[in-house]
Parts: sequence; C-alpha cells; structure tokens
Amino acid sequence: MSHEPGPVLIGSANAEVGMDRGREILEDGGSALDAVEAVIRAVEDNPEDHTVGYGGYPNLLGEVELDASIMDGSTRRAGCVGALRGYRAAISVARGVLERLPHVLVVGEGAARLAAEMGLEAEDLLTEEAEKVWRDGLEGRGELGRIGEMMLSRVASLATDPDRAAGTVDVIARDQYGNLVSGVSTSGWAWKYPGRLGDSPIIGAGNYCDSRYGAAGCTGWGELAIRAGTARSAVARLAAGASVGEAGEAVIRDIVELETDGHHPLMHLVVMGADGTHAGFTTRAEGAQYVWWARGMSAPEMAERTVVPV
Ligand code: GLY
Repeated sequence: MSHEPGPVLIGSANAEVGMDRGREILEDGGSALDAVEAVIRAVEDNPEDHTVGYGGYPNLLGEVELDASIMDGSTRRAGCVGALRGYRAAISVARGVLERLPHVLVVGEGAARLAAEMGLEAEDLLTEEAEKVWRDGLEGRGELGRIGEMMLSRVASLATDPDRAAGTVDVIARDQYGNLVSGVSTSGWAWKYPGRLGDSPIIGAGNYCDSRYGAAGCTGWGELAIRAGTARSAVARLAAGASVGEAGEAVIRDIVELETDGHHPLMHLVVMGADGTHAGFTTRAEGAQYVWWARGMSAPEMAERTVVPV
C-alpha cells in the first residue's frame, strides 16, 4: 500500500497491542526509534503472547531466553541481544547496545549485565501457562523427568513444530523526517536448544533497515531467514529498483527453495519502502495479516499478507 510521505508504522499482527503507543509518538513528531521500541515493549509486556518477552515459551531446560534487534536506517547502526535471561525488555537492551556500546551483538550474561546497568528490573519471565506448555511437550515424549541429565539434542526436534513453537514480533516505523527504523523481538522457538539464536538478533537475517531504500523484518522459522539472508536481500532488491511487492515475493521464494527435510518453510515478512509503501508476505495459508497505520488514520488496521505458495 502506498501513502503520502509522512509517518507510517507497520508490524506483525501481534504488534497490534502496542500500535497506539507508536502512533502517538509519531503523530507528536517523535522518532521512529522511539516508536518501534514503544510498540515492541507493549508486546514484551503482554503475558498472553507466548512468543515474545514476559510469558514467552522457554527452551528445553525450561529457561526463557530472549532475542531482539533494532536498526536505525539513517545511520545503519544496530543493536542486538541474544539469549537474554531475566529481563523482559529485550528490545530496550538491544537499543542499549546500539546507543551505549561499540558493538552490535551482545549475548547471554553480557546482555543481562547491560540490562542491569540500564536500570531494568530483573524478574522470572516464565509464567505458569508457558511452563505448562513446556512440561506437556516433554511429557508427551516421556522425557520430562530426565531433562536435566540427558543429551538435549535427542529432543531438539520438539522445536520444529511451527504451530506450537514459532512466533515473534517485528515492527517498522517511518517518522516525519523520513527516517526508517526496524525492530524485532522474540522468545524464539519453544523447546529450543539452550543458547540457540534465531534470525531476530541477526542483522541481515531477521531485520534490516536502510532509510534510503527501505526495511524488512521476518517472523517465522529463523534458521531459514539466517540461511537465506532474507531481510538484507529484501532491502538490496529495493535498492536495485524492485517494488516492495517484487522484493518481498522474491525473497520468500528464496526461502521456499531451501531444503527443509519435509517441514513447511514457515516464514512471514513485512517490507516498507523509503516512501512508506508497505506489504506483508507469508508462506502460510490465506488469511495471515499484518497491522499498519499511516498519518491521517484514526486507528491501526489489519491488511492481508500476500501468500507465496510452497
Ligand atoms: N523468528 C524467530 C525465531 O526463529 O526465533
């Protein structure tokens, strides 16, 4: 969809809970960086969303590990965190990496240390609901009692069922100055191997932003977006003159062509051009949506994603 140049905000459907916060920031002349962080913080705070932040599904050991990234398309500076434990606001810690450190990606204890230095509150992120799903999955395999002592690689295949395991939030904002920022946050796949990073904290895979050309964000099976370099590829196609529709469909077709051992290549993508034009894509069945808002709209709306056949 195309608009008059001005603020635009898009995201995966689960970003809806935070869209009004982002819209208010952009309407008040605020930055795309603040808008993206605010929308994603609302999703990270939502205990009903088991794929992001507080209440996220845990890894095989029952520990919630968060990944996130944020990229400023005007400077092409980025901040990313991986396997962050004990702090829900992964996107803010990612912004902390961007603004406070001479690095791009910080993981594990270092990420938690930075969160503490930023004054964020440490807490247990595992809710009863999320723990029950984790237990049920392992009990279904008869493995729950032995999980602390076994070779976890034997049960890592639990994390390959996209209907139970996948989910993420991605958000792209264009502010009134034409700056683009993209952000992604996730608890990753349920029952993932401890320390596993998906595409969300990997610039070029799950997230890429360049205010000259556009931005892209992925949700879905992160390993595929890493293997295909999906978000960077989408923006490179925009830079070469493709429309958002052409760029998005082409990079999803790249995903579909990957070898996946018979598993469905689950991937969703949102793309925004430098002028605020946007579109969403999916390999899932009809009906998958993304959420968007542009200046002049009183509330965010849902739009259909283009389905790329598998
Ligand atoms: N796309 C999120 C993940 O694979 O962790």
